[in-house]
Amino acid sequence: MNNKSQGNSVAVVTGGARGIGLGCAKALSTKGFDIVLIDVLEEDLERSASALSASGVHTESFVADVSLFDRTQEVAKNILTRYESINVLVNNAGTPMPKGLLEISEAEWDRTINVHLKGCFNWARAVVPSMLRNGSGRIVNISSISAYSGGVTRAVSKFAYAAAKAGILGMTRSLAKELGPSIAVNAVCPGAIKTELTAKMLEARATEFTEGISLQRLGTPEDIGEVVAFLASVEPNYINGQAITVDGCQWIT
Ligand SMILES: NC(=O)c1ccc[n+]([C@@H]2O[C@H](COP(=O)([O-])OP(=O)(O)OC[C@H]3O[C@@H](n4cnc5c(N)ncnc54)[C@H](O)[C@@H]3O)[C@@H](O)[C@H]2O)c1
Repeated sequence: MNNKSQGNSVAVVTGGARGIGLGCAKALSTKGFDIVLIDVLEEDLERSASALSASGVHTESFVADVSLFDRTQEVAKNILTRYESINVLVNNAGTPMPKGLLEISEAEWDRTINVHLKGCFNWARAVVPSMLRNGSGRIVNISSISAYSGGVTRAVSKFAYAAAKAGILGMTRSLAKELGPSIAVNAVCPGAIKTELTAKMLEARATEFTEGISLQRLGTPEDIGEVVAFLASVEPNYINGQAITVDGCQWIT
């Protein structure tokens, strides 16, 4: 398609078909961004993109696995044939890996690192050239309080997940230095957020979790979306390379 949109700024949200990603997309749309959702779940993607479009938001979606370098570059190129530039990237796609050192397979370790950490690299590499040409850009990487805690309880090991999420923080700080001043790169570390990913586990252990949260409730995708939309806006120019914890005061760093 050659007729480029001359309209709003564009935000790409990976893992945007549901959960926190969709919460971020909705929050960004209220700030006037056009939305591009990336996900591997075709049906959820279609449903969420249609719902956003029906509410008047210019929305596009692509079925794509963030862990695949070539596919990511191809999708980004496709987006840039439709829009002048990509203004905001939210690296949110993620998958759980509740296995300990002695249970996890090599393939599961690789997959965890590839989706969470390499996915952030793949998408940053794909969008940063257009941000540099444009002279501005915002990248928000979704990490986790597990990056600090290693996993909230001892019951479930999350060492591969925690390693990937901690890697995202290192990448965030380093890219903030490399890409400033025109591009800001920050991270958000959610606590226990009720989504499809966590619903079963959080339901079963709701009391245990909410007792440790000073706000006495689980978080919502909207709680994360609000912070991401703030970081994605052009105003917070002096916030760069930071990790903002959004967990109702569950984990104090
Ligand atoms: N829910 C929580 O309590 C919580 C806490 C801390 C961090 N996080 C992080 O927030 C992010 C979103 O989690 P969520 O709770 O909304 O989960 P979710 O499962 O509801 O959503 C994740 C989305 O990412 C997509 N995805 C997974 N692998 C992908 C891939 N390879 N390529 C493209 N898309 C892919 C999934 O299909 C899904 O739509 C994840 O990175 C997760 O690690 C979640």
